[in-house]
Amino acid sequence: MSPHDRWPVLVTRRLPQAAMDGIAERCDVVLWEGEDAMPRDRLLADVAGKVGAVTLLTDRVDDEFLDAAGPQLVVVANYAVGFDNIDLAACTRRGVLTTNTPDVLTETTADTTWALLMAAARRIAEGDRFLRSGTAWIWGPMFMLGQDVHHKTLGIVGFGRIGHALARRAQGFGMKVVYHDVYRPAPELEQELDVEYRDLEDLLRESDFVSLHVNLTEETRHLINAERLRLMKPTAVIVNTSRGPVIDEQALAEALRDDVIFAAGLDVFENEPEVNPLLLEQDRAVVIPHLGSATVDTRIAMGLLAVENLFAALEGRTPPTLINPEAWERRRPAPA
Ligand code: GLV
Ligand code: GLV
Repeated sequence: MSPHDRWPVLVTRRLPQAAMDGIAERCDVVLWEGEDAMPRDRLLADVAGKVGAVTLLTDRVDDEFLDAAGPQLVVVANYAVGFDNIDLAACTRRGVLTTNTPDVLTETTADTTWALLMAAARRIAEGDRFLRSGTAWIWGPMFMLGQDVHHKTLGIVGFGRIGHALARRAQGFGMKVVYHDVYRPAPELEQELDVEYRDLEDLLRESDFVSLHVNLTEETRHLINAERLRLMKPTAVIVNTSRGPVIDEQALAEALRDDVIFAAGLDVFENEPEVNPLLLEQDRAVVIPHLGSATVDTRIAMGLLAVENLFAALEGRTPPTLINPEAWERRRPAPA
């Protein structure tokens, strides 16, 4: 394609205006204007012949999608840090460059996590609902007591960028922080963040707060199940801003009902947008609709990064946040 041509690109939902403007400068855009996820048949029809696709975590990118797109597809720019909606191996096999939007949403997602942690520990959402219900009340020594956050122990499961940002927040609350991950960070980072490694089971037993920050993979699906919930303290709070299926949602709802743990703060759900009905009956579950990165500034930054990834790939440069460099190797001509 000559530099003067406009690239045919699919965008599966309207992004913040700055990103839409950026894309429109150099691309012929097919945009799904619906409020809902793009219907599958429409997605498959509209991706045909495109060189790039900007996708969301509600779009499944798999062999069927890639077949429908055709061999000219260069790049899938996912508007999310998580990419469990994408069959990465399938993209790599076909040399389709695949990108996500890390870094720009780290602090915002850590803020959301902290808000859920505080709200669950101190019964903020429950208190708000209670007042709105019009029920008579009076200040009381034992009225609606929660759990302290300051100086307690926070266990971070999945110690990547967002986990690190959470550890920094916990320092301000005088908390002890332990973490679990399959990768161990550099000793200097452990020191800087003042964190200690634990086996998952030890972390669950020791922590007053457990926050999940793993990617969703076959290994992390139902990482937190009924058995592991029973390892936690009856006063403990679990927080999830990663992916819903990392927790067995039915087991969590039962654990809250049966006072196995104290509370939960949840941004993500096993079968989004559905939420387990038993979970919704639990007053100690604080539930919000996948708002981890949902601020004005961060959604713009994610959009601009997705556009940068898209353009880099289409110009033949390495996209800034490429997740399958192996696909890049495939696209490059073999060395002479
Ligand atoms: C949102 O869940 C994301 O992965 O960015
Ligand atoms: C509570 O409002 C107090 O004054 O202790």
